Amino acid sequence: MNLKIALLPGDGIGPEVVNAAVEVMKIAAEKFNTTLTLNEYLVGGCSYDKFGTPLTEETLSACYDSDAVLLGAVGGTKWENLSQNLKPEAALLKLRKALGLYNNIRPAKVYSALLSSSTLKPEVLEGTDIIILRELTGDVYFGEPRGYDDEKGWNTMIYYREEVVRMARYAFELAMTRDKRVVSVDKANVLDCSQFWRKIVHEIHKDYPEVTLSDMYVDNAAMQIVRNPKQFDIILTQNLFGDILSDIAAMITGSLGMLPSASLGSKYALYEPVHGSAPDIAGQGKANPLATISSVAMMFYHSFKMYKAAELIEAAISKTLDSGYRTADIYSPGSVLVSTAQMRDAVIDNFNKIYDEQVVGETAHQ
Ligand SMILES: NC(=O)c1ccc[n+]([C@@H]2O[C@H](COP(=O)([O-])OP(=O)(O)OC[C@H]3O[C@@H](n4cnc5c(N)ncnc54)[C@H](O)[C@@H]3O)[C@@H](O)[C@H]2O)c1
Repeated sequence: MNLKIALLPGDGIGPEVVNAAVEVMKIAAEKFNTTLTLNEYLVGGCSYDKFGTPLTEETLSACYDSDAVLLGAVGGTKWENLSQNLKPEAALLKLRKALGLYNNIRPAKVYSALLSSSTLKPEVLEGTDIIILRELTGDVYFGEPRGYDDEKGWNTMIYYREEVVRMARYAFELAMTRDKRVVSVDKANVLDCSQFWRKIVHEIHKDYPEVTLSDMYVDNAAMQIVRNPKQFDIILTQNLFGDILSDIAAMITGSLGMLPSASLGSKYALYEPVHGSAPDIAGQGKANPLATISSVAMMFYHSFKMYKAAELIEAAISKTLDSGYRTADIYSPGSVLVSTAQMRDAVIDNFNKIYDEQVVGETAHQ
């Protein structure tokens, strides 16, 4: 198999974590007889500096022309005062819209080795394995009219039937492969748009009688995620609420540096860590690359259907954490403090070991 991947490292720690993840990607592809064509493009602040826009036509066409896109992060204080449509973050919204990436999948699961890294109690976290499904191309981020003047600012929260239907279907289909539980999060007690969301989700639910569906207001959901995260299996939610809830869920894993994501559309797919460009640690070799490496595992799983490769990457991450390796964001006394590059090398080493044990070992037994 030959796969073409567009790499969009972006700003701040983006290039550091993407470089690390690409090395893992190359090893995994090689082991599973896959050839990769990797091409790098500018996005975000670095693109603005060179071309005067955070997203060029060249970068966008490269994404259209690839089997998958891996993005690092964009943004930084340098570009904070630009107008809204020139800011680095505008590139993300444009990419999502242009590629039709409506379904953002954000798993938040606890690695047992990191139980003590979170500020939450280990007994509250143990066994947590949530998937947050965030609708990504609707809601206040894209609704028109929008704007501000000297006297007021305004955005429009809007959802169309089809946008809710496809998300609800995905949630229920996914639930059928897991614990058959979906919590739909909205703010239907105040917002008409959320009442509509809830109505459609329940309509679609009728096709999936085996799945248990419950509704929760977003303010309560924020509290419940930190109070008792194990109660959740799949959380299905609107764009705005998903944005906030998935950062809250970052506390389950101990660090934003641990959270991967996939954004899927009907034709294209983009994978990226949930965190931003972390200007405070950029260029210091301190960034945790595991969220991006885990995003590569999601790419192998969702885009390439290379399930074993995805499983081995995840297993290599777990084994690396079990051996006590920690970047600064997840460090605790008694563990081994490592740089971005050292963490990458440890994951690659463990990937090779697990591959030899599981894949080569199994073949030898046959
Ligand atoms: N998808 C994206 O590209 C994206 C997402 C969020 C924020 N941003 C942008 O990033 C910039 C910084 O935003 P912010 O500070 O609010 O959020 P951030 O995620 O960049 O950083 C928040 C905190 O988490 C730490 N952190 C984040 N990722 C880490 C990693 N991999 N390893 C270790 N520590 C990590 C940072 O050091 C910082 O202390 C802003 O310009 C923002 O707009 C971009």
